[in-house]
Amino acid sequence: MKISIVVAAALDNAIGKNNELLWKLPADMQFFKNLTWGMPIIMGRKTFESMRSRPLPGRINIVITRDPSSIKSSGQVQLAASLETAIQLARDTYCQEAFIIGGGDVYRQAMSMTDRIYMTRVENHYPDADTHFVEMDETNFQLIDSSAHLADEKHAIPFCFQTWERIS
Ligand SMILES: NC(=O)c1ccc[n+]([C@@H]2O[C@H](COP(=O)([O-])OP(=O)(O)OC[C@H]3O[C@@H](n4cnc5c(N)ncnc54)[C@H](OP(=O)(O)O)[C@@H]3O)[C@@H](O)[C@H]2O)c1
Repeated sequence: MKISIVVAAALDNAIGKNNELLWKLPADMQFFKNLTWGMPIIMGRKTFESMRSRPLPGRINIVITRDPSSIKSSGQVQLAASLETAIQLARDTYCQEAFIIGGGDVYRQAMSMTDRIYMTRVENHYPDADTHFVEMDETNFQLIDSSAHLADEKHAIPFCFQTWERIS
C-alpha cells in the first residue's frame, strides 16, 4: 500500500490558523475529493474537529488520538491510538493507497514513511498562520507532475497542483 500525504501549503508552508484553513479554493477541494474518494484517509484529532467532527463521506475516516473518549462524532470513524495503528487499519482495507490528510502534527510524523506528496502550493504568504507543513527535503522527492492555476473569480490566489514521488 502506498502512503501519500495530501496537503495545501502556502509558500511559507502555512497550512492553518485557529484550527481552520487559510483560504477557500474550490478547485482544490474538488481535487482532494476526487483523489481520496473511496480510500482510507488518516487525520489528527484536531483536523477532525476542524471538520466539525463529521467524517468525510465516501471515504474510510481514520482519526488519531491518544484520548478516544474525546472524539464526539455524528458519523462513522475508526479511531487509532498511534499513526502506526492508523496505517495498519488502512492496510486492512486492502486499498492500494492511504492518504494522510493532516494536520501539521500528523504530517510531521508521517513524512519519513510517505511515498508520495500531493502538494497544492498556494502562492501567498500567511505570517499569521499558527500551523505549518513540515519542511520537505527535496533531495528525497522528485516532482513528477505539476499544473499551475491562475487566480480567477472563484480563486483569489493562484496555486499549483504538484505531485512529488519519493526517490530515496
Ligand atoms: N492546508 C491543509 O492541507 C490542511 C490539512 C489538514 C489540516 N490543516 C490545518 O491544520 C491544523 C490542525 O493541525 P494540528 O497540527 O494542530 O493538529 P492535527 O495534526 O490535526 O492533530 C493533532 C492531534 O492528533 C493526535 N495525534 C497526533 N499524533 C498522534 C500520535 N502519534 N498518536 C496518537 N495521537 C496523535 C493528537 O490528538 P489528542 O490530543 O486527541 O491525543 C494531537 O493533539 C488546522 O488549522 C487545520 O485547518 C490544514
